[in-house]
Amino acid sequence: MSYNLLKGKKGIIFGALDEKSIAWRTALRCHEEGAQLVLSNAPVALRMGEINNLAEAVKAPVIGADVTNMDDLKKLFEESMKHFGGPIDFVLHSIGMGLNVRKGKHYVEMDYEWNKKTLDISAMSLHRVLRTAWDMDALSEGASVVALTYIAAQRVFPDYNEMADAKALLESVTRSFGYHYGVRKKVRVNTVSQSPTRTTAGSGVKGFDGFINFAEKMSPLGNASADECADYCVTLFSDLTKMVTMQNLFHDGGYSTTGVTGAVIEQMEK
Ligand SMILES: NC(=O)c1ccc[n+]([C@@H]2O[C@H](COP(=O)([O-])OP(=O)(O)OC[C@H]3O[C@@H](n4cnc5c(N)ncnc54)[C@H](O)[C@@H]3O)[C@@H](O)[C@H]2O)c1
Repeated sequence: MSYNLLKGKKGIIFGALDEKSIAWRTALRCHEEGAQLVLSNAPVALRMGEINNLAEAVKAPVIGADVTNMDDLKKLFEESMKHFGGPIDFVLHSIGMGLNVRKGKHYVEMDYEWNKKTLDISAMSLHRVLRTAWDMDALSEGASVVALTYIAAQRVFPDYNEMADAKALLESVTRSFGYHYGVRKKVRVNTVSQSPTRTTAGSGVKGFDGFINFAEKMSPLGNASADECADYCVTLFSDLTKMVTMQNLFHDGGYSTTGVTGAVIEQMEK
């Protein structure tokens, strides 16, 4: 069902890899709600080619950008503004990559060069995106920027590894840049802290099946799906949330404030 919440709005969506990606689901919902889009991902991801199916469905151009490369980001914003014929109203940062996680390095044995890259791709990239937009004055008054995060920024999930630190940094950049952009142009910057979700990045976490089942049992509403996350992002891009900024917003079926549930107790008594 569409409410036309994003009618006339123009947005950039980073991170749609395949149809399971949270960014992919969000692009479809934004399109349904009347937004015009530009899709972006790392050149290596574009070579997989799947994004072209999404581009066709949402009638959007695809512009490659490695989020750790300022020239790529500048080109992306320039071409997007040219395509839209004006400034950008919303941005979804749906990007994550843990090099130590990927290469099976335990947290206490991390390789610091890989870790630098992890923090750059997964966290400082939000600063890079905002900085690029800031320098070019590319965001409209009251624009909305959303980045995706996970509760491992606040609580320990041992196998989430270095990504926990990356998410803590991402949430801090959200607050710090959110302050400056709010003062300058009423731009909102928030993170959405999503339930575990079966995607390429999600499934990279060791023991993911146990992890996602535990979260399901620990959430009064159950785990939030990628499509439900997309719905929530739509509300944050809309004019209905104009005064929400610098927040970490839990979208997790109640997991973050639950101590224990009947379902978990039942399981433990078995
Ligand atoms: N899946 C989950 O369980 C879960 C839970 C909470 C938060 N998140 C977050 O949601 C976001 C999206 O992840 P997802 O689960 O949809 O997985 P995904 O693998 O579909 O998306 C991750 C994206 O990051 C992109 N990316 C990686 N390096 C990049 C670079 N250098 N430049 C540009 N793009 C790059 C990838 O190409 C990919 O499209 C991530 O920030 C992730 O940490 C995921």
